[in-house]
Amino acid sequence: MPKPLKKAVLPVAGLGTRFLPATKALAKEMLPVVDKPLIQYAVEEARAAGIEQFCLVTGRGKTALVEHFDVAYELEATLRERAKTDALALLATTSMPPGSVMSVRQQVPLGLGHAIWCARAFVGDDPFAILLPDDLVLADVSWVRQLAEVYEQTGGNVVAVEEVPREQTSRYGILKVGHDDGRVVEVMGLVEKPKPEEAPSTLSIIGRYILQPEVIGEIARFERGAGGEIQLTDAMARLVGRQPFHGLRCEGRRFDCGDKAGFLEAQIAFALKRPDLADKVRAFLGRYV
Ligand code: G1P
Repeated sequence: MPKPLKKAVLPVAGLGTRFLPATKALAKEMLPVVDKPLIQYAVEEARAAGIEQFCLVTGRGKTALVEHFDVAYELEATLRERAKTDALALLATTSMPPGSVMSVRQQVPLGLGHAIWCARAFVGDDPFAILLPDDLVLADVSWVRQLAEVYEQTGGNVVAVEEVPREQTSRYGILKVGHDDGRVVEVMGLVEKPKPEEAPSTLSIIGRYILQPEVIGEIARFERGAGGEIQLTDAMARLVGRQPFHGLRCEGRRFDCGDKAGFLEAQIAFALKRPDLADKVRAFLGRYV
């Protein structure tokens, strides 16, 4: 039985340049899809998989992300005074057990691998999940839970994967695929952002991972990879063959909210799932297409 999964690291130090000017003074992970910020979707997804401890890897100008999971006494008191029970219930969705959220700073943007390495004291000797909040998931079962179920069988490392068009391989970490049962694939190798003609497959890593703590030691070699950055994928690649390593095609849909069109599509898809909004959204959509 592999060690239980209780920790998650959320790298949120990115500058969000693709969403300027909105992200000049606002963390991109605070951008809402319908009415909930991206960071909260990620935390809820992890909690639905039994994760209890969170580490946000933040940077300058990102304090709102930590504030979001704090208790807002004044706001709560005012809402209580005004008997705003619906608003209070929404506020309660951001409440976290005391001591369950910590943050560290990635002082310089040296890459995703470096961001994860900044959380090394939090990770310690335990397996941990990573969630990239830009990848937003709409699914009946939390993707971290789906990964955790495979992890309980296989141990080692498990990442969420998805087929992408070959012309997009240079945007993702790409798998070299071994045994593949159509759902779970054996990872034989990993390449970060390969050119389409060099990609070993079109199966890409999506921003959900369950990793063993040994990956931290591999990151600590601080080798520069794609884009001159310290890449998580390169460190993971060095665990292949030494530890079990699998990819899982999760059930559900993923939206790339780091991209404007993906972010807009997520708004529509999530709004159509909301009983209070679906009819109104469906009614107005027809006017635009
Ligand atoms: C990161 C990872 C990449 C992964 C992607 C998923 O890239 O480095 O391997 O496929 O997230 O969204 P980024 O989107 O930060 O460039």
